[in-house]
Amino acid sequence: MTPARLGFVAVLAVLVLGGGWLAWQKLRPPLIIGPTTTSGTVEIGGPFELTDQTGARRSDEEFRGRYILIYFGYTYCPDVCPTSLLAMSRALQLLSARAPEAAEQVVPVFVTVDPERDTVEALAAYAPSFHPDLVTLTGTPDEIAAAAKAYRIYYAKAEDASSGTYLMDHSSFIYLMGPDGAYLAHFSHLAQSEDIAESLERHIGG
Ligand code: NI
Repeated sequence: MTPARLGFVAVLAVLVLGGGWLAWQKLRPPLIIGPTTTSGTVEIGGPFELTDQTGARRSDEEFRGRYILIYFGYTYCPDVCPTSLLAMSRALQLLSARAPEAAEQVVPVFVTVDPERDTVEALAAYAPSFHPDLVTLTGTPDEIAAAAKAYRIYYAKAEDASSGTYLMDHSSFIYLMGPDGAYLAHFSHLAQSEDIAESLERHIGG
């Protein structure tokens, strides 16, 4: 074989083998990366044991049979948290106007990621600015960490040296959980209350 011919055969071999490999890549079953990508459901939610704005202990189990709209944030939050809580509250008002029996099945819940400042008293002062049924929850740092972990919420202190105070970085998803405690949907803090209300109606209606 001449060197040129040898080169041609080598190129041909690469093409044939390469094509075969690509075809096999397409045909073989997809790699299983993790439980959340294969089941079609998202594993968000889980048990929590926290304290509400009246000082009463509350657990996830008491909400079984009802839907919860749950949001993690903190009362010192300058913008995102109040925006999200207002969107939740307005969504429930909208739903209540057109499907009161559906609205009655939804409990809005706020869990602080800043238990250091968000005491029972701080929550009691904060909650009435939003929905009358809003359950606001705090707890020990460990209890908050466990609840946040269950809902896949990231949070961290962001110190502000100039003011001597701090903000909290945190995920800002509103989760809709079903009567069995399972995740149904989530909304960003930019979601319009109308869209949240429509989603609630859809989930609760059927
Ligand atoms: Ni916030």
